[in-house]
Amino acid sequence: MSHFDHSASSWDSPSKVSMMMTLAEKVKENVDLGDNLSILDFGCGTGLFGLEFFDNAKSLIGMDTSTGMLEVFDEKTKKYSNIKSLKLDLESTEVQRVETDEKFDLVVSSMTFHHLNNPINVLTKLKNSLNENGKILVVDLEKEDGSFHPNNEEMGVKHYGFSQDELKSWADKLNLKINICTINKVSKNGKEYGQFLAEFH
Ligand SMILES: C[S@@+](CC[C@H](N)C(=O)[O-])C[C@H]1O[C@@H](n2cnc3c(N)ncnc32)[C@H](O)[C@@H]1O
Repeated sequence: MSHFDHSASSWDSPSKVSMMMTLAEKVKENVDLGDNLSILDFGCGTGLFGLEFFDNAKSLIGMDTSTGMLEVFDEKTKKYSNIKSLKLDLESTEVQRVETDEKFDLVVSSMTFHHLNNPINVLTKLKNSLNENGKILVVDLEKEDGSFHPNNEEMGVKHYGFSQDELKSWADKLNLKINICTINKVSKNGKEYGQFLAEFH
């Protein structure tokens, strides 16, 4: 059982709910999203972040690798026929894009990229899953010293955040434009950690 399967039932703590709502609000302040979008929440967890974009959606898919997280997501969203979950690992070499009938106008992702072995490989597959003029919004930690998570190995942390140069190099390699800004600061253990929004389009 993964860390996320194990934590799923108690994931929605007041502090996480508040952080994800803040992040989603800041994204909406910074990006003109539009309406009636087909949306993918990559690494949706219990949906705390991605479901905040439901007002902009025609349809929304929450995708994750954790069965436990997706069970909570499904329970929350069962009354909405246009919200579905998908268990899929884009890091698997056999998967080249998100295998759904529709492509996406908007991919959102929060606090998931630092768990990926190969973020640029996954970003490529997300790009392959976009409609024309679609965009990918990634929210995650700015470069940190490894102290944000209490136990990096146990929690599946593969990157101690990302620098702007790293994010720009991904955009260059994928021939995408990028806008980056800091959208939040989290105080923890007497330190302050930045969270960025990167818009790939
Ligand atoms: C820190 S949680 C964030 C959850 C959610 N985005 C939120 O903001 O509340 C990271 C999530 O990424 C998922 N995850 C990790 N590796 C993944 C992968 N390769 N593909 C999809 N999801 C993944 C985990 O299962 C977990 O639900």
